[in-house]
Amino acid sequence: MQISCWFCSLLCLSLQSVPGTSVLHTLRYFYTASSDVPNFPEFVGVGYVDDVQIIHYDSNTRRSVPKQDWVKDAADEQYWERNTGNFIGAQQVFKVNIETAKQRFNQTGGVHIFQRMYGCEWDDETGDVDGYDQLGYDGEDFISLNLKEQIWIAPNQQAFITKLKWDNDKARLSHYKHYHTEECPEWLKKYVNAGRSSLMRTDLPSIQLLQRTPSSPVTCHATGFYPRYAVMFWRKDQEEEVLEGVDHGEMLPNHDGSFQMSVDLNISLIRAEDWSRYDCVFQIKGVEEDLTVTLDKSVILSNWRKSDGGVGVVAGAVVGGLLLLLLLLGAVSGFFLWRKRSGGFKRANTSDTSSSSAGESEMKTGTSEEQRGMITAPSS
Ligand SMILES: *[C@@H]1O[C@H](CO)[C@@H](O)[C@H](O)[C@H]1NC(C)=O
Ligand SMILES: *[C@@H]1O[C@H](CO)[C@@H](O)[C@H](O)[C@H]1NC(C)=O
Repeated sequence: MQISCWFCSLLCLSLQSVPGTSVLHTLRYFYTASSDVPNFPEFVGVGYVDDVQIIHYDSNTRRSVPKQDWVKDAADEQYWERNTGNFIGAQQVFKVNIETAKQRFNQTGGVHIFQRMYGCEWDDETGDVDGYDQLGYDGEDFISLNLKEQIWIAPNQQAFITKLKWDNDKARLSHYKHYHTEECPEWLKKYVNAGRSSLMRTDLPSIQLLQRTPSSPVTCHATGFYPRYAVMFWRKDQEEEVLEGVDHGEMLPNHDGSFQMSVDLNISLIRAEDWSRYDCVFQIKGVEEDLTVTLDKSVILSNWRKSDGGVGVVAGAVVGGLLLLLLLLGAVSGFFLWRKRSGGFKRANTSDTSSSSAGESEMKTGTSEEQRGMITAPSS
């Protein structure tokens, strides 16, 4: 698990090769607490198995709800009540954590985000398991667990007090180790088993060529595919991948659990008579045949070409609206918020108001209770 991109790992895999026999499953929980963000719940907790959301809680609804039928089936009624209680606990803990972090960074107000991601992965071929637990503040790593070494890593001095305390708490460290390497994988296996038909499905995308103006790049856009183990590229003469003038977009999650991605081709250097030598190729794990669309003016949806008139305009608007919606949904799920240094939320109102007690108050992961909730086996 790479620290640099772990929070957006759902989104950052677009250019990886298609793993033919990849059997790595993941169970991941994301908590996002925020302060002073208008129209955004101050606490959101979500859980994912592989790329499928299984659970949602937020401070507005104050209820933990299953997001898939097979998750519902995997647990008893009391499970959701216990789980709700645990999320309410975590919400309180994270509210305190934000205040503590603000003190540590000498901040008085403004928009701040405190996040946690933890979970485990399981390779169902080798049986290997691994776990992780990381906290972040305002888009940067705050503290993370090194499971192998059984120590906490604090990249900034503001988290160092926390590191010292947590490193000394051997009981908790061993609880974490047990959770991440035993209980969490156990749950993951249970979920994968219950959701097998849904998690192992393959959905093919619809693919369209889009273009803004006659001289803009042609965008090959695929949406509705699952799983995300897919690649898309431009090809010339049925054989070579075009590298020059090609721009790969990010892979994005759709609200229905499928994915979309796009790849642009700069057509300014391509002569009109050569267009048909190019095609856009989509490949997805588990499917032998490529999906292809040949570069052809007559199939491009555009805002400017009169021949496809309204359709093109509508298509453009729909895609634009969809992207916006995705960003919003992403924000609600707690994704997109954790960016490395430059991109993400900026620190607001960093002031010099010193607080002599800064560092006295303690961070919490929202720990065992709420983890217990996640991991308590449904009574059988
Ligand atoms: C916060 O203020 C204290 C006391 O003035 C100072 O020692 C510390 O370096 C400050 N921390 C940051 C992150 O500015
Ligand atoms: C496409 O390529 C041309 C020629 O190399 C270049 O001038 C133009 O900026 C490129 N367009 C884009 C959108 O990259």
